[in-house]
Amino acid sequence: MKSAVILISGRGSNMRAIVEAGLPARIAAVVSNRPDAAGLAYAAERGIATAVLDHGGFPSREAFDEALARRIDEYAPDLVVLAGFMRILGDGFVRRYDGRLINIHPSLLPAFPGLHTHRRALEQGVKIHGCTVHFVTGQLDHGPVVIQAAVPVLPGDDEDSLAERVLRQEHRIYPLAVRWFVEDRLVIENGVVRVQGEKASQWVFDAQ
Ligand code: GRF
Repeated sequence: MKSAVILISGRGSNMRAIVEAGLPARIAAVVSNRPDAAGLAYAAERGIATAVLDHGGFPSREAFDEALARRIDEYAPDLVVLAGFMRILGDGFVRRYDGRLINIHPSLLPAFPGLHTHRRALEQGVKIHGCTVHFVTGQLDHGPVVIQAAVPVLPGDDEDSLAERVLRQEHRIYPLAVRWFVEDRLVIENGVVRVQGEKASQWVFDAQ
């Protein structure tokens, strides 16, 4: 059975969705860069190993990345899952986990990379918004797309209501993407991700 390490910085609801999906994978550890990340308590309650590497305690981004990688490698995971991990990882880190590092981003990439995606979607007046699971590359919030979920932007939406609608879909698509990875079904060809095997839909549209 393949194993995964999940990196979080806060609430950890995506991590929780992955843990509770009952995937054919071992969640070897949950690692946070913030000691106060709420998700850590949940992971510990579930008997999952947890670790904290406070980025504030490192002299440089490279030193933090290196320590983080060393910690991750203690668990020798097949997959590293960024689930609300709010630190930018350097090129060396990204290269080290090439092809086995995935992220979820709360927008339909390539639209709205970076922060405050829901606010920016509302400001731009887009009518469809959503979330994306992608393989991580050296470019922020960029990389081969595994699956996307779209939701409508409704009249009267504010940042919170839109974030909530998108988050429901995050909890749906992230476990699915992890499942495909650990079942060895993802292939990247010329930067495009395909799911092998039975016909799997790499998109979700939920009008709710
Ligand atoms: C999610 O919206 C994720 O897409 C973004 O940060 C949020 C993290 O939420 N990168 P959680 O910690 O998984 O609850």
